[in-house]
Amino acid sequence: MDTAAGYAAMLELVMGLPEQLAEAGTRCLPAGIPGRRGWSTVVVVGMGGSAISGDIARSLMLDSCAVPVISCRDYDIPAAVTKRTLLVALSYSGNTEETLSAYRQAVGTGCRRVVVTSGGELARLARAEHDPVIAVPSGIPPRAALGYLLGSLLPVLEHAGLGEFRGQLDEAVGLLAARRDAWRRRAVTLAARLVDRLPLVLSTSRLLDCAADRWRCQLNENAKVICHTSRLPEHNHNEVVGMGRPAELAQRTVIIGLLERETHPRTSLRLRHVLAIARDGYEQAVRLRAEGRSPLARVLSLSMLGDLVSVELARLTGVDPMPVRRIDKLKRRLARARRE
Ligand code: PA5
Repeated sequence: MDTAAGYAAMLELVMGLPEQLAEAGTRCLPAGIPGRRGWSTVVVVGMGGSAISGDIARSLMLDSCAVPVISCRDYDIPAAVTKRTLLVALSYSGNTEETLSAYRQAVGTGCRRVVVTSGGELARLARAEHDPVIAVPSGIPPRAALGYLLGSLLPVLEHAGLGEFRGQLDEAVGLLAARRDAWRRRAVTLAARLVDRLPLVLSTSRLLDCAADRWRCQLNENAKVICHTSRLPEHNHNEVVGMGRPAELAQRTVIIGLLERETHPRTSLRLRHVLAIARDGYEQAVRLRAEGRSPLARVLSLSMLGDLVSVELARLTGVDPMPVRRIDKLKRRLARARRE
């Protein structure tokens, strides 16, 4: 695939987020998905482009659900996993070694498990364990399957009595479909500001921490650039001191502040002052406000804008957003090392 074809393909996938969400959210759940019970913990296992769905679900539940949600991005599951844990393993390919390792450990604990994948070893293992498998369409990059993965995960959590997501999904689908063309135009302008610059994405709420992470991962993988994220108010207690140095780096850094209507008023004020303090040392700063009513719509509004910025930045810099050769190379090297 050449660069132009890669751009067209990734843009289509990014613009298709509402359709993916709608399709996944309306599919029937497979038999065996556990229902409401006295859950002690929810653990969502996954890496990279698959893990972000777990982070979003976690951030939605932090404010609405008494059951703690742990996002596990590692080989080992946390000690909090017990028979009263619902563990969801998310791996688009089904072949990610950290996720497979965590899933195998989970089998030994007797916790309730659900798998979301397009196939691979994870699907095979889960079927052998008689665990429910939600199969998502294969053949696209994992990060471009956000709608399929998140749209599958939320109904599982709802079925287990851990939240009400149906209305939020409907609102998000409508908002994203209605606003995507305008966001694309905005993304073209924002991407032009990021050429040869370091993006520093500042989030101002727990919900928007996920959107900031999505910006970073999408800028890394689609535009193939480094990106830094930081969280307010914590940022004000350490990183603010280091801001502006090294001076050459700061002068080439664009600060992107993400805000939403639930941003604490004091955190909003903090962002304003950080931007004022940083004004001289930094290239420039922009503030972006989440749209939508529900938390899901808000987090996805800024995530989709970030996705579009990453694709437009790839186009402007002549980069093909589709391949992630270094990830592939690392996975091949690690697979070889396992066999040696
Ligand atoms: O975007 C990517 O390709 C990666 O971040 C993958 O999502 C990550 O390596 C995990 O793979 P998978 O999503 O197939 O489990």
